[in-house]
Amino acid sequence: MYKIGLTGGIGCGKSVVSDLFKQHTTPVIDADEIARALVAPGEKALSQIQASFGAHMLNDDGSLNRNQLRDCVFQNTEKKHLLESILHPLVYAEINQQLSQITSPYAIISIPLLIETKMQSLVDHILVIDCPMEMQVNRVKLRDNLSDAQIVAIINSQVSRSERLTEADSIIDNTQDMPYLSRQVNTLHQLFIKQAQ
Ligand SMILES: Nc1ncnc2c1ncn2[C@@H]1O[C@H](COP(=O)(O)OP(=O)(O)OP(=O)(O)O)[C@@H](O)[C@H]1O
Ligand SMILES: [Mg+2]
Repeated sequence: MYKIGLTGGIGCGKSVVSDLFKQHTTPVIDADEIARALVAPGEKALSQIQASFGAHMLNDDGSLNRNQLRDCVFQNTEKKHLLESILHPLVYAEINQQLSQITSPYAIISIPLLIETKMQSLVDHILVIDCPMEMQVNRVKLRDNLSDAQIVAIINSQVSRSERLTEADSIIDNTQDMPYLSRQVNTLHQLFIKQAQ
Protein backbone atom coordinates (compact mmCIF):
# COMPACT_ATOMS: atom_id res chain seq x y z
CA MET A 1 0.00 0.00 0.00
CA TYR A 2 1.21 3.43 -1.00
CA LYS A 3 1.69 5.71 2.01
CA ILE A 4 1.28 9.46 1.64
CA GLY A 5 2.64 11.56 4.51
CA LEU A 6 0.59 14.76 4.70
CA THR A 7 2.31 17.56 6.54
CA GLY A 8 2.46 21.34 6.91
CA GLY A 9 2.78 24.06 9.50
CA ILE A 10 0.07 25.09 11.94
CA GLY A 11 -3.02 26.39 10.14
CA CYS A 12 -1.74 25.56 6.64
CA GLY A 13 -4.83 23.42 6.02
CA LYS A 14 -3.90 19.79 6.82
CA SER A 15 -7.29 19.07 8.37
CA VAL A 16 -9.33 20.58 5.52
CA VAL A 17 -7.20 18.71 2.96
CA SER A 18 -7.61 15.45 4.94
CA ASP A 19 -11.39 15.96 4.81
CA LEU A 20 -11.22 16.43 1.03
CA PHE A 21 -9.30 13.15 0.65
CA LYS A 22 -11.89 11.42 2.87
CA GLN A 23 -14.55 12.53 0.37
CA HIS A 24 -12.74 10.27 -2.14
CA THR A 25 -13.10 7.49 0.50
CA THR A 26 -9.34 7.57 1.02
CA PRO A 27 -8.41 6.30 4.50
CA VAL A 28 -6.79 9.03 6.60
CA ILE A 29 -4.70 8.18 9.66
CA ASP A 30 -4.30 11.23 11.88
CA ALA A 31 -1.26 11.42 14.18
CA ASP A 32 -2.82 14.30 16.16
CA GLU A 33 -5.96 12.29 16.85
CA ILE A 34 -3.86 9.31 17.90
CA ALA A 35 -1.78 11.47 20.25
CA ARG A 36 -4.96 12.90 21.81
CA ALA A 37 -6.42 9.43 22.31
CA LEU A 38 -3.18 8.22 23.93
CA VAL A 39 -3.40 10.81 26.70
CA ALA A 40 -7.05 10.12 27.58
CA PRO A 41 -7.65 9.04 31.19
CA GLY A 42 -6.63 5.43 31.70
CA GLU A 43 -4.44 5.36 28.58
CA LYS A 44 -0.78 4.34 28.55
CA ALA A 45 0.78 7.68 27.69
CA LEU A 46 -1.10 9.54 30.40
CA SER A 47 0.22 7.30 33.17
CA GLN A 48 3.74 7.65 31.76
CA ILE A 49 3.40 11.46 31.69
CA GLN A 50 2.18 11.40 35.27
CA ALA A 51 5.12 9.23 36.32
CA SER A 52 7.72 11.37 34.50
CA PHE A 53 6.34 14.90 34.98
CA GLY A 54 4.39 14.61 38.23
CA ALA A 55 0.76 14.43 39.28
CA HIS A 56 0.33 18.21 38.83
CA MET A 57 0.11 17.57 35.06
CA LEU A 58 -3.34 16.10 35.67
CA ASN A 59 -6.58 17.94 36.37
CA ASP A 60 -8.69 17.02 39.40
CA ASP A 61 -10.87 14.78 37.21
CA GLY A 62 -7.80 12.76 36.11
CA SER A 63 -7.60 14.24 32.60
CA LEU A 64 -4.41 15.76 31.21
CA ASN A 65 -3.83 19.43 32.00
CA ARG A 66 -2.78 20.32 28.47
CA ASN A 67 -1.97 23.97 29.19
CA GLN A 68 0.29 23.03 32.10
CA LEU A 69 2.12 20.45 30.01
CA ARG A 70 2.41 22.81 27.02
CA ASP A 71 3.86 25.57 29.22
CA CYS A 72 6.27 23.11 30.81
CA VAL A 73 7.73 21.81 27.53
CA PHE A 74 7.55 24.94 25.39
CA GLN A 75 10.65 26.66 26.74
CA ASN A 76 12.43 23.57 28.05
CA THR A 77 14.16 21.38 25.46
CA GLU A 78 14.96 18.61 27.92
CA LYS A 79 11.32 18.31 29.01
CA LYS A 80 10.20 18.52 25.39
CA HIS A 81 12.44 15.56 24.54
CA LEU A 82 11.16 13.66 27.55
CA LEU A 83 7.56 14.13 26.38
CA GLU A 84 8.49 13.15 22.83
CA SER A 85 10.24 10.01 24.07
CA ILE A 86 6.95 9.00 25.71
CA LEU A 87 4.56 9.96 22.91
CA HIS A 88 6.34 9.35 19.62
CA PRO A 89 6.98 5.58 19.91
CA LEU A 90 3.35 5.06 20.97
CA VAL A 91 2.01 7.26 18.15
CA TYR A 92 4.12 5.53 15.50
CA ALA A 93 3.19 2.07 16.83
CA GLU A 94 -0.50 2.99 16.54
CA ILE A 95 0.02 4.40 13.02
CA ASN A 96 1.57 1.08 11.97
CA GLN A 97 -1.24 -0.84 13.63
CA GLN A 98 -3.86 1.19 11.72
CA LEU A 99 -1.89 0.84 8.46
CA SER A 100 -1.93 -2.93 8.82
CA GLN A 101 -5.76 -2.87 8.74
CA ILE A 102 -6.01 -0.87 5.48
CA THR A 103 -6.63 -2.58 2.16
CA SER A 104 -7.08 0.40 -0.20
CA PRO A 105 -4.38 1.22 -2.81
CA TYR A 106 -3.15 4.26 -0.94
CA ALA A 107 -3.66 5.97 2.42
CA ILE A 108 -3.01 9.42 3.81
CA ILE A 109 -1.11 9.69 7.09
CA SER A 110 -1.44 13.18 8.50
CA ILE A 111 1.66 13.91 10.57
CA PRO A 112 2.07 17.62 11.38
CA LEU A 113 5.61 17.08 12.66
CA LEU A 114 6.72 14.53 10.04
CA ILE A 115 9.92 16.41 9.20
CA GLU A 116 10.60 17.66 12.74
CA THR A 117 10.46 14.07 14.04
CA LYS A 118 12.60 12.85 11.11
CA MET A 119 10.05 10.18 10.23
CA GLN A 120 10.12 10.74 6.46
CA SER A 121 11.11 7.10 5.90
CA LEU A 122 7.76 5.97 7.32
CA VAL A 123 6.03 7.16 4.14
CA ASP A 124 6.50 6.70 0.37
CA HIS A 125 5.49 10.21 -0.67
CA ILE A 126 5.56 13.53 1.19
CA LEU A 127 2.67 15.90 0.50
CA VAL A 128 3.16 19.39 1.92
CA ILE A 129 0.24 21.77 2.43
CA ASP A 130 1.66 25.24 1.95
CA CYS A 131 0.71 28.85 2.51
CA PRO A 132 2.64 31.94 3.66
CA MET A 133 3.09 32.67 7.35
CA GLU A 134 0.70 35.67 7.35
CA MET A 135 -2.08 33.36 6.15
CA GLN A 136 -1.26 30.80 8.84
CA VAL A 137 -1.51 33.53 11.48
CA ASN A 138 -4.79 34.92 10.13
CA ARG A 139 -6.46 31.53 9.77
CA VAL A 140 -5.38 30.27 13.19
CA LYS A 141 -6.48 33.54 14.79
CA LEU A 142 -9.96 33.03 13.35
CA ARG A 143 -10.01 29.40 14.50
CA ASP A 144 -8.38 29.51 17.96
CA ASN A 145 -8.25 31.94 20.80
CA LEU A 146 -4.54 32.73 20.39
CA SER A 147 -2.61 35.99 19.99
CA ASP A 148 -0.40 36.79 17.00
CA ALA A 149 2.66 36.34 19.24
CA GLN A 150 1.53 32.90 20.42
CA ILE A 151 0.87 31.75 16.86
CA VAL A 152 4.22 33.08 15.62
CA ALA A 153 5.97 31.30 18.51
CA ILE A 154 4.38 28.00 17.43
CA ILE A 155 5.35 28.62 13.79
CA ASN A 156 8.93 29.35 14.88
CA SER A 157 9.04 26.10 16.88
CA GLN A 158 8.25 24.17 13.69
CA VAL A 159 10.54 23.50 10.72
CA SER A 160 10.81 26.48 8.33
CA ARG A 161 8.57 26.79 5.30
CA SER A 162 11.51 26.46 2.88
CA GLU A 163 12.94 23.42 4.67
CA ARG A 164 9.54 21.71 4.56
CA LEU A 165 9.11 22.48 0.85
CA THR A 166 12.55 20.98 0.12
CA GLU A 167 11.29 17.67 1.51
CA ALA A 168 8.08 17.67 -0.56
CA ASP A 169 7.28 15.21 -3.34
CA SER A 170 4.03 17.12 -3.97
CA ILE A 171 2.84 20.51 -2.77
CA ILE A 172 -0.72 21.72 -2.31
CA ASP A 173 -0.97 25.50 -2.67
CA ASN A 174 -3.51 26.57 -0.04
CA THR A 175 -3.47 30.29 -0.72
CA GLN A 176 -6.83 30.52 -2.43
CA ASP A 177 -10.43 29.38 -2.00
CA MET A 178 -11.84 25.93 -1.22
CA PRO A 179 -12.71 25.03 -4.85
CA TYR A 180 -9.06 25.63 -5.79
CA LEU A 181 -8.00 23.33 -2.94
CA SER A 182 -10.53 20.72 -3.94
CA ARG A 183 -9.31 20.68 -7.56
CA GLN A 184 -5.73 20.05 -6.42
CA VAL A 185 -6.89 17.16 -4.21
CA ASN A 186 -8.83 15.63 -7.13
CA THR A 187 -5.71 15.72 -9.33
CA LEU A 188 -3.52 14.23 -6.60
CA HIS A 189 -6.07 11.51 -5.86
CA GLN A 190 -5.80 10.36 -9.50
CA LEU A 191 -2.00 10.58 -9.35
CA PHE A 192 -1.78 8.56 -6.12
CA ILE A 193 -4.03 5.82 -7.51
CA LYS A 194 -1.69 5.55 -10.53
CA GLN A 195 1.46 5.66 -8.40
CA ALA A 196 0.04 3.00 -6.07
CA GLN A 197 -0.16 0.45 -8.90
N1 LIG B 1 -8.37 27.77 1.53
C1 LIG B 1 -8.94 28.16 2.66
N2 LIG B 1 -9.79 29.20 2.68
C2 LIG B 1 -10.35 29.61 3.84
N3 LIG B 1 -10.13 29.08 5.05
C3 LIG B 1 -9.27 28.05 5.10
C4 LIG B 1 -8.64 27.54 3.92
N4 LIG B 1 -7.86 26.51 4.30
C5 LIG B 1 -7.99 26.38 5.63
N5 LIG B 1 -8.85 27.28 6.12
C6 LIG B 1 -9.23 27.46 7.52
O1 LIG B 1 -8.04 27.79 8.22
C7 LIG B 1 -8.00 27.12 9.49
C8 LIG B 1 -6.77 26.22 9.52
O2 LIG B 1 -6.95 25.12 8.66
P1 LIG B 1 -6.74 23.65 9.23
O3 LIG B 1 -7.39 23.50 10.56
O4 LIG B 1 -7.12 22.68 8.16
O5 LIG B 1 -5.14 23.69 9.40
P2 LIG B 1 -4.20 22.59 10.01
O6 LIG B 1 -2.99 22.55 9.13
O7 LIG B 1 -4.95 21.30 10.19
O8 LIG B 1 -3.80 23.23 11.40
P3 LIG B 1 -3.20 22.50 12.72
O9 LIG B 1 -1.74 22.32 12.46
O10 LIG B 1 -3.44 23.48 13.81
O11 LIG B 1 -3.94 21.21 12.88
C9 LIG B 1 -9.31 26.36 9.61
O12 LIG B 1 -10.22 27.14 10.34
C10 LIG B 1 -9.77 26.18 8.16
O13 LIG B 1 -11.16 26.08 8.05
MG1 LIG C 1 -5.37 20.14 11.89
